[in-house]
Amino acid sequence: MNGHTNGDRAGHPARGGVGEGSAETRSVLANGHHTNGHATAVAEPPHYALLKEKITILKQERQAIILAHNYQEGAIQDVADFVGDSLGLARKAKASDAKVILFCGVHFMAETAAMLCPDKTVLIPDLQAGCSLADMIIPEQIRTWRRHHPDGVVVCYVNTSAAVKAECDYCVTSTNGVTILEHIPAEKEILFVPDYYLGSYLKAKTKRKIHLWKGYCPAHAAILPEQVDQLRELHPDAEFLMHPECGCTTKQMDLADQILSTEGMVQYVNRSPATEFIIATETGLLNRLRTQYPEKTFFPASEHATCHHMQRNTLEKAFMSLVRMQHVVTVDQKIAERAVKPIERMLDIV
Ligand code: 13P
Repeated sequence: MNGHTNGDRAGHPARGGVGEGSAETRSVLANGHHTNGHATAVAEPPHYALLKEKITILKQERQAIILAHNYQEGAIQDVADFVGDSLGLARKAKASDAKVILFCGVHFMAETAAMLCPDKTVLIPDLQAGCSLADMIIPEQIRTWRRHHPDGVVVCYVNTSAAVKAECDYCVTSTNGVTILEHIPAEKEILFVPDYYLGSYLKAKTKRKIHLWKGYCPAHAAILPEQVDQLRELHPDAEFLMHPECGCTTKQMDLADQILSTEGMVQYVNRSPATEFIIATETGLLNRLRTQYPEKTFFPASEHATCHHMQRNTLEKAFMSLVRMQHVVTVDQKIAERAVKPIERMLDIV
């Protein structure tokens, strides 16, 4: 799952990056409904074209870049300088020389950027764009867990608050978990927080002794194994791509053709000869897949796998962020000093 390329708008106009295809095409398809796996064209609101122009001008004035997660609506992806998964976005933030980063994603992602770029102003369009999974553990719970496993190494999924990361030894994303765990001495037991399903996947892959926290992502939990079975019967030629956060991981893991991060899925579709795919992750990713690969057909494993936090960010709010320089995301310096360590440790490995 490593080494994927990313959706760098500036550098990769060729197929495989979100740079492919005109902004117009993306815009038309961005909010499309789908039947039989294809998007039907639903035009964006007329004022979006003007908003996009204004955002482009504001970006220059503010010396800002926009980083957008793969789940964000197409209109936001259109104005982004980079679209990708959690790992790609963190890397891009760190490497950027912009003064301002408008982070179109959820709060823990913006926090990560703020910690990696203490000299930059990090903005998020809506401060309420949180993460239910990240909220399933608090620092005190880690401290207690550690007391029960004093020799344990605490590994957190990037979907955690900075305060939780400050209590952890290593951070992982959906892309690099196996590689990071292989760097932890074999005799060490691992305490993994907060995602039970990603943890189960890592446990099966690495055969390590891993204690699992029982957190989950509600959007991915909406994907039911029975539905996946039905879809696979209906579309026997479709490849089944699954995000490791899926609640159905334990049953479907051996059945999935690929278990990938969101960006891993985009890259995989590019290189696969298959023309049909069942996509088990938040439905926002289908916008990007359908826009980037209009000749291929995508079926969501569940229409209900939606993240209302991600959807709080809109083009209007992104615009207002740059106008008013709101909402600034900061991390308490003492927490940041500790929380950045597991993140840097991860970035040094992969
Ligand atoms: P990715 O890192 O695969 O984009 O996943 C992030 C996330 O929060 C999935 O729900």
